[in-house]
Amino acid sequence: MNRKHFLKSVLGASAFIGIPFNSYSFSNDSIDELINNTKLNINGSMFSFSDTEIKKVRVAIIGVGNRGSVLLQMFQYLVENDHAEIIAISDISEKKVNNSSDKLSKFQRRKADLYYKSNEDWKKVCDRDDIDLVLIATPWELHTSMSVYAMENGKHVACEVPAASTLEDCWKLIEVSERTNKHFMMMENCNYNEEELWVLNMIQEGVFGDLTHAEGAYLHDLRALLLHENYYEGQWRLHEHAERNGNFYTTHGLGPISFYLKIGRGDTFSHLTSMSSRELNLSLAAKQVNHPITTYKCGDMNNTMIKTEKGKTILLQFDVHSGRPYSRINKVVGTKAVHEGYPSRLYIDSEKLESWGHKWLKKEEYSRYRNKYQHPIIQKLKSVSQAFKQGHGGMDFVMIYRLIRCINLGLPLDINLYDSVMWSAITPLTEISVVSNSQSIKIPDFTAGGWKTESPLEIMREV
Ligand SMILES: NC(=O)c1ccc[n+]([C@@H]2O[C@H](COP(=O)([O-])OP(=O)(O)OC[C@H]3O[C@@H](n4cnc5c(N)ncnc54)[C@H](O)[C@@H]3O)[C@@H](O)[C@H]2O)c1
Repeated sequence: MNRKHFLKSVLGASAFIGIPFNSYSFSNDSIDELINNTKLNINGSMFSFSDTEIKKVRVAIIGVGNRGSVLLQMFQYLVENDHAEIIAISDISEKKVNNSSDKLSKFQRRKADLYYKSNEDWKKVCDRDDIDLVLIATPWELHTSMSVYAMENGKHVACEVPAASTLEDCWKLIEVSERTNKHFMMMENCNYNEEELWVLNMIQEGVFGDLTHAEGAYLHDLRALLLHENYYEGQWRLHEHAERNGNFYTTHGLGPISFYLKIGRGDTFSHLTSMSSRELNLSLAAKQVNHPITTYKCGDMNNTMIKTEKGKTILLQFDVHSGRPYSRINKVVGTKAVHEGYPSRLYIDSEKLESWGHKWLKKEEYSRYRNKYQHPIIQKLKSVSQAFKQGHGGMDFVMIYRLIRCINLGLPLDINLYDSVMWSAITPLTEISVVSNSQSIKIPDFTAGGWKTESPLEIMREV
């Protein structure tokens, strides 16, 4: 990939309008100017946005592969309690829409309309006037165009991670959502995991004091799935690793951390630097299974450091090539306590100098904190539904429950437009930093200054 092609793939075509490309290199400040050139006029109007109440949310799902079919099943409780109804299902695979339709028939009497006849059939779903919310769970490169089309046609959108892959698309999502007054939420389920919500609750209750640092990651051995013939439709995810180098899956680690650090609610990302290791593991695995693609641009391990405007630091890691246990790290450091996940451990600092220690809390003490600060939404939902047990240990259900109930009640969503874009924009910015010898990259303000206003997290309100 030549330099121009690379920059277009991470910035978008608009960065080059009216600019002679030859005047730009990776090694000087002009990269910031190019990044700025992607910017669209935005105003921050979707902060705390709420629409009128929708008593029963009429839902369409586009993309019912691995993820979309799980999301569909998360609706059982909501459908059975008349909070939502699945109206339409779309995919390019007839088999997949039929499978999902069968799953739906186990808990919803009305059959969903099925759209599978072409790559563009999903547009017919968005063109209907009896749908309130479109859920998108397709390959990454389709997320923004599908979301934009749905919002332009009057639908709220909840899209799988990441929201966008280029900076141009990040701005576009904001501009369209603000102009159409439609919700855009990226469905970052890890923000709804029991451990992350417990840590968040402790932070809100002051257990950690003031925060200085956090670490998150997506460390997940995906070799077998990436190289599998049919797991990802058309092996779309493997091609991303062949073509790009950076952190492609920022949001599972960064989403919860951003809630901890009040990103977009009093603080924001200032700049980042990113470094990828050499690539060995995926190509070795590819050779082992005789896969035709044996060279991959994406390094095995990407490390990204982010500084916030208020001086906090974040370490974000990404590795889906190496054989290793799963981890999102989930570490947060404050003036009074430290948490680290995988496995979850808590350190509480002592106010007395002579009692300063180096040990995690013992099991009994840890359990005391775990029980005392369990997030109220977890407490509540564990008792309402069997569904809590499904979908990544409960977090998928909590996320869909909150999404639908907030729309039912006309409340702002937990993960707003700006959260969704800020967490996703880190991907193209890591790609630019990696390719330019880890140059420090200024992170654009996607909130029109709205991040400066301290505001509470919606998830802390019980619904
Ligand atoms: N949050 C999570 O825990 C989680 C877990 C897995 C995947 N995901 C995300 O979900 C998304 C989908 O991943 P997946 O693993 O389900 O991949 P997948 O390949 O199994 O599913 C994608 C689906 O989109 C369909 N599709 C492709 N083009 C389409 C079109 N033009 N119209 C309609 N449908 C189309 C494909 O046929 C396929 O069924 C990705 O964004 C991924 O990052 C999130």
